[in-house]
Amino acid sequence: MITFNNISRSFIGDEVETVAIDNMSLTINKGEFLSILGPSGCGKSTLLNVLGMLDSIDQGGFSFIGHQVDQCSEKQRAELRKQHIGFIFQSFNLIDELTVEQNIELPLYYHKVPKEERKRLVDKVLQRVDIAHRRKHLPAKLSGGQQQRVAIARAIVTQPDLILADEPTGNLDSKNSEQVMGLLQELNQEGSTIVMVTHAPEHVCYGTRVLELLDGKVLKDESVQQETLAADLTEVACG
Ligand SMILES: Nc1ncnc2c1ncn2[C@@H]1O[C@H](COP(=O)(O)OP(=O)(O)OP(=O)(O)O)[C@@H](O)[C@H]1O
Ligand SMILES: [Mg+2]
Repeated sequence: MITFNNISRSFIGDEVETVAIDNMSLTINKGEFLSILGPSGCGKSTLLNVLGMLDSIDQGGFSFIGHQVDQCSEKQRAELRKQHIGFIFQSFNLIDELTVEQNIELPLYYHKVPKEERKRLVDKVLQRVDIAHRRKHLPAKLSGGQQQRVAIARAIVTQPDLILADEPTGNLDSKNSEQVMGLLQELNQEGSTIVMVTHAPEHVCYGTRVLELLDGKVLKDESVQQETLAADLTEVACG
C-alpha cells in the first residue's frame, strides 16, 4: 500500500539542521495496524505527517496505492489525502462552534456527498463510536474520551483507506484510552489500515506490527503475535 524508499526529511533552523527522518525505507501493507514508538524528537510525528502528505520529503521515493507521491504536485497530494486518508490527533482538533454531528458531517461536505447520504453515513458512525446520544452537543460539553470518539467518527466517516493517529490517547485517562484503542482495533479487524504514533508501549498489543524509531531511523520492526500476546503480554500490558 505504502512504500518509502530511502526517504529523508530535515528541518533547517537558524544555526542547526535537524534530520527528522534519516534515509528511511519502509513498506506498509494493506490491513496492517502499525504502532510507532520512540523517544520524543525521534521523528514519529514527522513520519506520520509525511505519510498523510501534510509534509513533504527532501529526497527519496514515496509511493501510495500506486501513486508516486514524491512526484505529485501540492494539489494532487491534497486530493490523495482527501480521498484516502483520515486523521486522528492527540488534541482531537474538533471545531468548537459545530455540534458533534456537524463536525462529523464536515468531511462529507468536502467530498460533495448529497444530503441524504450524508445523514445516513453520519448516523452510522455515530452509532459505531457510541456517541449518538450526544449528537446535538458542542464538543466543549463532552468528556475527553467522548471528544476523541467524535474525532474518530469524523476520520472514518469518509471510509478512508488509511487511518493515521498521532498519540490518540495522549490526553485520555486509562479507561477512555482502552475504549479508543479497542475501537481502533475493531476498525483494523474490519479492514482499515492504521498507523498510530504512541508513547504507551502497552498499546502495541492492539496492533499487528510495531516500529521503534531512534534519531529518524528504524531501530526495530517487529510483527505483533496476537496468539502469544493473548497468552502473556495482554495480561501484563492490557490488564
Ligand atoms: N516544523 C519544524 N521545524 C523545525 N524542526 C522541526 C519541525 N518539526 C519537527 N522538527 C524537529 O524534528 C525532530 C523530530 O520531530 P517530531 O515532531 O517528528 O518528533 P516526535 O518523535 O513526534 O516527538 P514527540 O514524541 O515529542 O511528539 C525534532 O528534533 C523536532 O525538533
Ligand atoms: Mg510527535
